[in-house]
Amino acid sequence: MITLGIESTAHTLGIGVVRDKRVLSNIHDIYRAPPAEGILPRKAADHHANVFAEILERNLEKAGIELNEVDLIAFAQGPGIGAPLRAGVVMAKYLAKRLGKKIIGVNHCYAHAKISEYLTGIKSPLYVYVSGGNSQLLIEEKQGFHVLGETLDVGIGNLFDAFARNIKLEHAHGAAVAKLAEEGKYIELPYSVKGMNLVFSGLLTQASKLAKDQSKKDVAYSLMETAFSMTCEVAERALLLTRRKGVVLCGGVAQNRRLQEMLRKMCTEDNVEFGVAPDEFNRDNGAMIAFAGELLFRKNGCKAVEEWEAVQDYRIDMKI
Ligand code: FE2
Repeated sequence: MITLGIESTAHTLGIGVVRDKRVLSNIHDIYRAPPAEGILPRKAADHHANVFAEILERNLEKAGIELNEVDLIAFAQGPGIGAPLRAGVVMAKYLAKRLGKKIIGVNHCYAHAKISEYLTGIKSPLYVYVSGGNSQLLIEEKQGFHVLGETLDVGIGNLFDAFARNIKLEHAHGAAVAKLAEEGKYIELPYSVKGMNLVFSGLLTQASKLAKDQSKKDVAYSLMETAFSMTCEVAERALLLTRRKGVVLCGGVAQNRRLQEMLRKMCTEDNVEFGVAPDEFNRDNGAMIAFAGELLFRKNGCKAVEEWEAVQDYRIDMKI
């Protein structure tokens, strides 16, 4: 079975081809927002429409297949930013209608979790899902995914992006903050954990304020250390409560080596497995949507083209 996956929930237009769980291609293109602006939804959607044909072509070439060999079109149904999310849905529906193929919508967070579980080989883990808009502790049970804890305000990735914009970094995103943090020293910042939930806004406000008259390197380092320590604390609490035997770190922020190191150390101390997929599958990508689409199709089948629609606030624990 060959599945073509389309990811368009935010600034990435990702397409991937998966054949029976094996990734054949995974090529993307990113809309680069002007510094200090963040994502402009309409422009991200225009970008996705403009590059779609080329990215599709490159994927088919890499996968070594013709478009008509695809059995199933999978698309990211949400959560996401309205305009780019809908651009992907439109393109998926067009392909399904034009080619007479089956079509399935996939929750973006579910796709991150399931491909990471598969690639790390850790069964029934506690998922630490960290990205721009999300920070969640997840487990999967027979009835579906449960959110054990999550951010009560911004996602951890958006915390770093907002800090980067506030201190006017040239590249306003988390990777730039991580680079800046490399040689920093620790200074104390607000630490806010509520049970298994996280609160980041006080941390952002204080870090942005201190960065005006203290070393930006030190503040960036301390911001990351504090946010990651908070994440480890809630993860460890969830791990002990659920008695899961492994932790899978996934989502865009899972690419951060310091967070990987901290969670790996925690898992070693708690005598459980730790796993994280290669960066390619933690950034937004089409292959994870194809992979999850294939899983869901085999489990539930699919609906007609007209019955699918984008769900902007699609939580992983929602039944739709
Ligand atoms: Fe993502």
